[in-house]
Amino acid sequence: MNRDDFPMLKKDLIYFDNGATSLKPYSVIDKITDYYTNYGANAHRGDYDISYKVDLEYENTRDLVTEFINAKSKEEIVFTSGATESLNMIANGFFAPLLEAGDEILITSSEHASNVLPWFNLANQKGCLIKYIPLDDNLHVTLENVKSVVTPKTKIISLAMVTNVIGDIRPMKEITKFAHENNIFVVMDGAQSIGHMKTDVQDLDIDFLAFSAHKMLGPTGVGILYGKKELLEELIPINLGGGMNESFDNEKEIYLKDLPTRLEAGTPNIAGVIGLGEAIKYLNKIGMDNIHDKEIDLRNYLIEKLVKIPYIDIINLEADSGIVTFNIDDIFSQDVAYYLNKYNICVRAGNHCAKILKNVTGVTNSIRISLYFYNTEKEIDTLVELLSDKEKILKEMI
Ligand code: ALA
Repeated sequence: MNRDDFPMLKKDLIYFDNGATSLKPYSVIDKITDYYTNYGANAHRGDYDISYKVDLEYENTRDLVTEFINAKSKEEIVFTSGATESLNMIANGFFAPLLEAGDEILITSSEHASNVLPWFNLANQKGCLIKYIPLDDNLHVTLENVKSVVTPKTKIISLAMVTNVIGDIRPMKEITKFAHENNIFVVMDGAQSIGHMKTDVQDLDIDFLAFSAHKMLGPTGVGILYGKKELLEELIPINLGGGMNESFDNEKEIYLKDLPTRLEAGTPNIAGVIGLGEAIKYLNKIGMDNIHDKEIDLRNYLIEKLVKIPYIDIINLEADSGIVTFNIDDIFSQDVAYYLNKYNICVRAGNHCAKILKNVTGVTNSIRISLYFYNTEKEIDTLVELLSDKEKILKEMI
């Protein structure tokens, strides 16, 4: 990996907000420009050369995603607008017809909004119960804690592989094994993990996976809904329109196309999908294990320094990802972000869309550093130096 591959890294900027979105390499940006410049036709519709080229590139990304997450076949890969849309499709298209009043859905208090609100909505509509898996002392999920809240009424466990504030990695394989032994479906939100560690859907045996391209070097507005084929076959399309139907007639009969096209109504984000393919090629070149190892090294380097600053309280000391969340005694988190911004350092502050986490931690707002493989120890040194002088923060934060 070369930092020169990323135009944003050439600016006078230290970017530590990779949990919100990652930076994009030239290869992704150039691929998107190439589509709009040289073959900007629609997908799956034209009978001319540049349209064939679009189909080729578009479907090539589907092959790359299939391989990237080790799905059984490309029919299990649906392009969506992002993890949020994928999770809503799973909740409304697959589970809504299946659930009955009194059924239980398990999540945790540390999920971000996209893995909470679709389930709240579904529970409200169907008279289901949302139950929270208790977190352990490190705010992690354990199989024992999952078992402690499962009942014969439990139908769904929906968990992020890595959460966006605590940064803990969940034991998804063990949870899924237990869930399936008890006829429970498992949905995995891969938003914070997909670009940071290897994901093997067959090994994990999860039923559904949702993730976004923009957190893995790709463009915004594109995501993936993965589902086991036999389950996707049952998922009712929420969006109907062009591209997804084989035919329809005056009698209101609609004949749907096969998977996965039947779940991709309308003109898709073609440039975005093609850009995602390039992002996957870039990640593959480095290797997901190398990416994860680099992030852990950077995390340890940062933690080692932050623990020496007496007025800093680290919320997720024990996490095993590039997410480090903390507060500074008596200073509002957004004031710290404002102060760091004066030195061109980008961090996220606030509740990070994980708005019920405070019920467990008692912490309403925090500062989050979310690292990626292109960050450096030198950048961390600059950050730590700025955080090491509380008087300076107090003086400059307004
Ligand atoms: N969920 C994204 C984040 O953690 C937006 O910043």
